[in-house]
Amino acid sequence: MPKLSVNIDHIATIRQARGIDEPDPVAAAVLVELAGAHGITVHLREDRRHIQDRDVEILRKTVKTRLNLEMAATEEMIAIALKTQPDMVTLVPEGRHELTTEGGLDVNLLKTGLKQKVSLLQQAGISVSLFIEPDLEQVKASHRVGADMVEIHTGTYCEMRVNRERQEQLSRIEIAGSAARKLGMRVSAGHGLNYRNVSAVAALSGFEEFNIGHSIVARAALVGMDRAVREMLELMKG
Ligand code: PXP
Repeated sequence: MPKLSVNIDHIATIRQARGIDEPDPVAAAVLVELAGAHGITVHLREDRRHIQDRDVEILRKTVKTRLNLEMAATEEMIAIALKTQPDMVTLVPEGRHELTTEGGLDVNLLKTGLKQKVSLLQQAGISVSLFIEPDLEQVKASHRVGADMVEIHTGTYCEMRVNRERQEQLSRIEIAGSAARKLGMRVSAGHGLNYRNVSAVAALSGFEEFNIGHSIVARAALVGMDRAVREMLELMKG
């Protein structure tokens, strides 16, 4: 069975909406691990719109499975990663105006700088994954810059509504994953996966991990609503 790393950014999104201290992603990470997930993923964005530096620092001390830090390949973020020492860094493209990560890295375009950054992180004992489109050129370029792993972007697959188009995307994901493995890289996938579209991707062989965030946090808010309301009503009765 592939592993699940839960992205808890949107627990922090709810906290930041009020600028107070709850819900705490650190507490969420404990519950995620108790439920059996194999890892915790957080994206420390340059604009700090959800996860904060303090979250990453504390999570490094509390996460008992594996901490995957998603970040842009900037000097500032590399310095934070070297200081915090997550188990893995996933390098992603980042745009100020995007609602969420929109596409994969263009590894070819960034290759010289990226190679140095990948190597700097690896020398510090941090394995490095690159978030890329299911595209053979990107797979090969990731190998050339020395990535340990690639995370294949499943966003387009998730957006397809027509079955044939969805199958085409699934097949692109499978081909990219298998090419990456042949080149000796480990392979994960993520973005946009939810309770309806995950099974087909999880059935592909060779994908060792899935990074899933928004749909799990969204489901948690709904399945937890009944208990949350009942607890408030109990207190009001008193
Ligand atoms: N993988 C990467 C590289 C991401 O940037 C994100 C979103 O932060 C995810 C996975 C998780 O995507 P989602 O929240 O849609 O499950």
